[in-house]
Amino acid sequence: MPVMKKTFPISIAFIFGIGLTSGLLAQSTQDIVIPDYSAYILTPPAPETPRINSAKVFGVRPGSPVMYNIAATGVRPMTFSAKGLPKGLTLDAKTGFIRGTLKTAGTYRITLYASNSKGRNERELRLEVGDKIALTPPMGWNSWNCWGNAVSQEKVLASAKAMVEKGLINYGWSYINIDDGWQGKRGGKYNAIQSNRKFPDMKKLADDIHNMGLKFGIYCGPWVGTYAGHIGCESDNADGTYDWIKEGKHNENYKYVTPEDSLGNKVRKEHYHHGMYSFVNNDVKQWCDWDVDYLKYDWNPNDYYDTKEMYDALKTQKRDIVYSLSNSAPYADAPIWAHFTNCYRTTGDIRDNWKSIYDIGFAGQDKWAAFSAPGHWADADMLVLGIVGWGRNMRYTGLTPDEQYTHMTLWAMLASPLLIGCDMSRLDPFTISLLCNAEVNDINQDPLGVHAFRYYHSSEYATYVKQLEDGSMAVAMFNISSKPMTIGFIPNRFGFRGKLKIRDLWRQKDVAEINPDERFDTNVNPHGVAFMKIYPGNSRERITGKPTSK
Ligand code: GLA
Repeated sequence: MPVMKKTFPISIAFIFGIGLTSGLLAQSTQDIVIPDYSAYILTPPAPETPRINSAKVFGVRPGSPVMYNIAATGVRPMTFSAKGLPKGLTLDAKTGFIRGTLKTAGTYRITLYASNSKGRNERELRLEVGDKIALTPPMGWNSWNCWGNAVSQEKVLASAKAMVEKGLINYGWSYINIDDGWQGKRGGKYNAIQSNRKFPDMKKLADDIHNMGLKFGIYCGPWVGTYAGHIGCESDNADGTYDWIKEGKHNENYKYVTPEDSLGNKVRKEHYHHGMYSFVNNDVKQWCDWDVDYLKYDWNPNDYYDTKEMYDALKTQKRDIVYSLSNSAPYADAPIWAHFTNCYRTTGDIRDNWKSIYDIGFAGQDKWAAFSAPGHWADADMLVLGIVGWGRNMRYTGLTPDEQYTHMTLWAMLASPLLIGCDMSRLDPFTISLLCNAEVNDINQDPLGVHAFRYYHSSEYATYVKQLEDGSMAVAMFNISSKPMTIGFIPNRFGFRGKLKIRDLWRQKDVAEINPDERFDTNVNPHGVAFMKIYPGNSRERITGKPTSK
């Protein structure tokens, strides 16, 4: 049964998010020129010896299926094992997939091992069984920036295959999320949204994705229609029918087709409003039957009532569904988003140009730092690397190589969810090098889970710092000007003591050993970044003896 909504806050939607609602078919990808950026690759090839890259902390609710992969690079065959794996979980020694359920809340400390003919590597995993999930920012792929409304089951499956075959799964990339465009009409056991004919079998798609060791995400919104013109979780009618579908204003996939008024003007967005009847519980039950792991819930302005309604519906389920709110979450309600969601989009839609990266990354994110932490991440929107185009104007990203380094570095520093937005089947070596730098990804996935803060910002450069769990610190020096610059820092300004090493994270190489009062300077390209780690952290030993000059 649908739920009659208790409140009905707005009858006319206020639209700030710019949804690309075109239903045009994706152009052929054959004619896209992929520039050869191989000379810009900094990430060294992964070593032959094993390196475990998966998150050091993982949260699951009691009784929910555990899906954690020991993601590792290194030559195959590789054998995985673990010490301290609690009863209820099993580890597949060949794939490294840990599965099962745990009934009792608590912290489990597990040592993970990966071995091959070249050596062995270990990493500690803190498994938190409790009410919090998404203890590190989700890493995965989303269909929107690439396929827009031209997404299909085939394309989603191809992306999942590419995530495995191109080795991204070995770096901890795991979610395969369908954005807008999968929805047909209501029906089935729960009178829930069924898929349209581009998605002939959602359960099979979910199974195929899970069998590859990946997780499955879906999209919806609480309006009667979504941005791309498909039905949402609400309806104007108690039986879950939609007027525009009854009136025949739709295409073969039940996508709203913009009609014209008597003057020949396009009547737009008549479906961008909340409905009288909510089918949230019906839809959530259906998603659980399909084994969904991630939900992007999208409308604007986000409000307390609808956010909490979905939160309550997800909470009662026996599986963990990452709850990702979208878009342009109002800052005045930041505590609400941090409390009820796992990720919340802070802005409108990202584009593949410097202005968009600058406006979202540098101008828009700082204020969210206090509300971003393990379990609830401020989301700076999906990555615009590789081939993007929203399904209708496919192209290689308009960002220069330096701007791409800035994009990836800043998103890692801001602890933003990392959702690849490109055609995964045509990933080029440069894009792979940006997505598969284990040391850079470790900064995003650091278990302390802090959002970087801006230590210094002028009109020409910006220095961000992010404390890490082991006491070390990531420092990103961004040149936001259009001329080359030298940027640096003095470690004692950040509170460091003792001899320090400076590690270039993109090159994965120590580049200096300095005293805390010495300045470290480096050249940074226009719109580029130097991404360093200062380590080790300060010693915890008692300091005795006469003061030194340092
Ligand atoms: C909005 C969102 C986008 C995407 C589209 C889908 O514009 O902000 O990320 O989900 O809707 O229609």
